[in-house]
Amino acid sequence: MTVKLFRNARIYTPQAGTAPLRGVEQGRIREIELGAILCRDGIIEMVGPEEEVLAYASSLEVNQEINLHGKCVIPGLVDPHTHMCFASRREEEFSKRLHGVPYLEILRSGGGILSSVRAVRTSSDQDLYEVTKTNAINALKHGTTTVEIKSGYGLDTESELRMLSVINRVGKETHLDVVATFMGAHAVPEDFRNNPDKFVDLLCGEVIPAAAEQGIARFCDVFCEDGVFSVDQSRRILSCARSNGFELKIHADEVHDLGGASLAAELRTLSAEHLLAASDEGLNAMAEAGVIAVLLPATAYSLKKPYARARRMIELGVPVALATDCNPGSCFCESMQFVFGLAVMNMGMSVEEALVGCTLNAAHAIGMGHLVGSLEEGKLADFVVLDGKTPATMAYHVGANSVLEVYKRGEKVV
Ligand code: NIG
Ligand code: FE
Repeated sequence: MTVKLFRNARIYTPQAGTAPLRGVEQGRIREIELGAILCRDGIIEMVGPEEEVLAYASSLEVNQEINLHGKCVIPGLVDPHTHMCFASRREEEFSKRLHGVPYLEILRSGGGILSSVRAVRTSSDQDLYEVTKTNAINALKHGTTTVEIKSGYGLDTESELRMLSVINRVGKETHLDVVATFMGAHAVPEDFRNNPDKFVDLLCGEVIPAAAEQGIARFCDVFCEDGVFSVDQSRRILSCARSNGFELKIHADEVHDLGGASLAAELRTLSAEHLLAASDEGLNAMAEAGVIAVLLPATAYSLKKPYARARRMIELGVPVALATDCNPGSCFCESMQFVFGLAVMNMGMSVEEALVGCTLNAAHAIGMGHLVGSLEEGKLADFVVLDGKTPATMAYHVGANSVLEVYKRGEKVV
């Protein structure tokens, strides 16, 4: 049994973390100017003003006392949407996009996601693991302590299960908590190009049941987009996944407003992601169904698209979470700090709303809200010490890594 006391911290954390925060609640942050955290075996036992925590601790045997020197402390950042398990980068594609070739056109001509599929299918497990682990550790160095990682560059049973095993191994062999999502419906493979419904048959008849049997992935996600999976195909895939025991997510209305947000509401998926082009009708339906919006501003930035309408979502009562989307194509970014900065500077979110989006709401978007996302009794002692007085420093100090230290379950890991 190890009891640790972290003293002299300026703490900023969401509170009452049993549900995602929405509307005005999204901006509610607890600030403790001179605070302390007491944890036992990596679990928070008390957080509060230093005086109160010290009084409580006086009756305990404290094994270690750590002075955080008045630095700003926030919960470990949670990244609820990444594709960081990939085999190689796509820098040539980035140059093409800079010259004006649209992202979906590159995919249509057999590049984009499909070039990542070729790379995964021909890479060894070890090589795939090394790239994924490097990406995850970069995220950790930037303050992410819990990350979701999707499969989806395999698109056949063997390669999808291989990706999920690699993702699982990264969770076991790094300090990060990793949540795996099966995304066999990330693109239509080249050999099914002329008959995408046959690929949906394969997913439903073979790949989804095999991924369920493997037991690594908790969620199933689908790319509902023009030229990828239609609303009807997405409905079929997600319904099949649900009956195989998966919880649901959807890439919705990223480039075109196909009605993905409404489908998310209809199926009551836990989250709908991207939403750059989502209509008010779709957003209203999401608010009513309690679907969490996972917004990926670094993708809008990298694709040079208008940002998602975060303010409208908050106004309508949709809980907003933020994520990197870290992937080799549309957005190669491991930093939730960069995402935070974009949310504050370009999406009209307040510092407090963006902090909730990067912590508590992000945790709820991957079913981890009971464990992480806020500094509260009973949750993991996952927190980040920032070089600055308030969380705003992550937007203020442009392009910097403002993370000084990262603690995971009370252990210093960065
Ligand atoms: O979320 N939109 C689909 N999937 C990823 C991109 C993946 C890729 O380009 O490799 C996304 O943007
Ligand atoms: Fe994505």
